[in-house]
Amino acid sequence: MLNSDRITLIHGDCLEEMKKIPDKSIDLVLTDPPYGIDSHSKNASRSNLAVAKDYGKCEWDKNIPEKRIFSEMFRVSKNQIIFGGNYFVEYLKNSPCWIFWDKDNGNNDFADGELIYTSFSSSVRKIKWRWAGMLQEDMKNKDIRVHPTQKPRGVLKWILEKYSNKGQTILDPFMGSGTTGVACKELNRNFIGIEINCCVLYINAIALVITGIIDYLVAFFPSFNVVIGYTFTVCI
Ligand SMILES: C[S@@+](CC[C@H](N)C(=O)[O-])C[C@H]1O[C@@H](n2cnc3c(N)ncnc32)[C@H](O)[C@@H]1O
Repeated sequence: MLNSDRITLIHGDCLEEMKKIPDKSIDLVLTDPPYGIDSHSKNASRSNLAVAKDYGKCEWDKNIPEKRIFSEMFRVSKNQIIFGGNYFVEYLKNSPCWIFWDKDNGNNDFADGELIYTSFSSSVRKIKWRWAGMLQEDMKNKDIRVHPTQKPRGVLKWILEKYSNKGQTILDPFMGSGTTGVACKELNRNFIGIEINCCVLYINAIALVITGIIDYLVAFFPSFNVVIGYTFTVCI
């Protein structure tokens, strides 16, 4: 486990790790669980928009997580925001407040966007944030894509600004490349991230340099492996 006052990164199974977290001690679970669609992510390969980048098969994406994991997420947190909520309706309660993320994908057979469940009682909201292979909303400040199902930092920051406050504690039990953590760091939220798969525990180094997390990680893990310049692979 990597720990600081504000950022805790855990390598492990989120079911087991969440059992150690007290009831309602987390302000917000903000997460992006496996959708169970056996992703083989080739970004925007079916359009002329961008060259595809092949991240290989996502072995962890064969099934949706067990109900017990969702029960733990609801037990430990006061509120929840869950990407791909439409894949998990059997586990979720009715809510007036879903978010539609319009990916501004162009004309192709990819989904126009994603449905994000929230436990909040406000209204449905929409965010338009382009995320189509190499084409991103903020082309001058692009996210480095290192994970097959990585989400944009801009979308995470938009969500955090609307649905959480500075100083609150955010948990992402399916951390992937740590996008939620980077957004939390940039917006002064405490962050706990859990990721089971060492190989996909990639950290966006550029964002981390900007936010200062890298000093912390290197300090605690001098044997960190630097891969292709921008990506850190963390094996604990
Ligand atoms: C959809 S991805 C998250 C991507 C992330 N939002 C990002 O921007 O990089 C889901 C992640 O959950 C991880 N995972 C799957 N089962 C898990 C478990 N039981 N505990 C912790 N992590 C798990 C997978 O390895 C994968 O990296």
